[in-house]
Amino acid sequence: MGNGIAQVFAQSGFEVRLCDLIPAAIERARGGIEKSLAKFVEKGRMTAPDRDAALGRLSAGSDLDALADVDYVVEAIAEVVGAKTDLFKRLDSITRPDVVLSSNTSSISITVLGAATTRPDKVLGMHFMNPVPLMSLVEVIRGQATSPESMKIATDLCRTLGKTPVEAADYPGFISNRILMPMINEAIYAVMEGVGTPEAIDTVMKLGMNHPMGPLTLADFIGLDVCLAILNVLQDGLGDPKYRPCPLLRRMVAAGQLGRKSGQGFYRY
Ligand code: CAA
Repeated sequence: MGNGIAQVFAQSGFEVRLCDLIPAAIERARGGIEKSLAKFVEKGRMTAPDRDAALGRLSAGSDLDALADVDYVVEAIAEVVGAKTDLFKRLDSITRPDVVLSSNTSSISITVLGAATTRPDKVLGMHFMNPVPLMSLVEVIRGQATSPESMKIATDLCRTLGKTPVEAADYPGFISNRILMPMINEAIYAVMEGVGTPEAIDTVMKLGMNHPMGPLTLADFIGLDVCLAILNVLQDGLGDPKYRPCPLLRRMVAAGQLGRKSGQGFYRY
């Protein structure tokens, strides 16, 4: 999601430094941003000079130390708590002490990330939705120690990006995934139990409930490994068996069937 986030900041006039340890990931991100902006120009939602200006505001590299002079950070690495806490420790030592450090986590505790730093009052969640350039919601998550001033900086920033911020407390899954993931999990149980085919289940939810995508198409789009990771956080954090990840989901992830990104999930890509 990092490329989508970088794109919306650059489109909104911010100088953006995109940082990834893997150079190939930076190339992929640039390609994704160029494709998305080209689509906006093609649809008349953006002019070609505005696209060029947005691309001109983006710089990229693998060196974290290059973040020493940034004014705001959005972290969007893998949903692995140890990797995130390590990164927050490093960001805490690299950036100015007044800088807000935000995480695009979909379920990891903001309080835990804040506790890895010397500035827990300036650590918060900024949870964008995929595809970031098209989706207007940002969940802004308040950790146990996050200050009201930091929350205001983040919510004002969301509005500058043309997004709608919604505040959530630091509970497993926050608001979005506390509600979305049990629906996706239930749809996977329905496949496993033979209640309907993936196509039937998605069609019911699209035509019967007016969802833009069926839950299984959406699961493939999010990534089945990501869905499983979030369900594990819900089950561990809330302790209720209703969040138990469906065995079929576990099996598919173990088999490398991760959805769209692996070419195979509930559908083939
Ligand atoms: N940038 C620019 N354009 C894009 C784009 C992007 N990143 N992604 C798609 N588009 C374009 C498409 O190419 C398409 O263009 P054409 O019309 O020229 O083909 C256009 O946008 C619209 O796409 P669709 O025709 O598929 O139209 P749609 O009405 O179905 O909209 C959608 C697409 C917005 C993705 C819609 O299907 C949707 O809202 N889906 C649900 C998305 C959702 O639930 N996201 C949240 C996931 S959960 C999450 O992100 C958080 C988490 O923690 C798991």
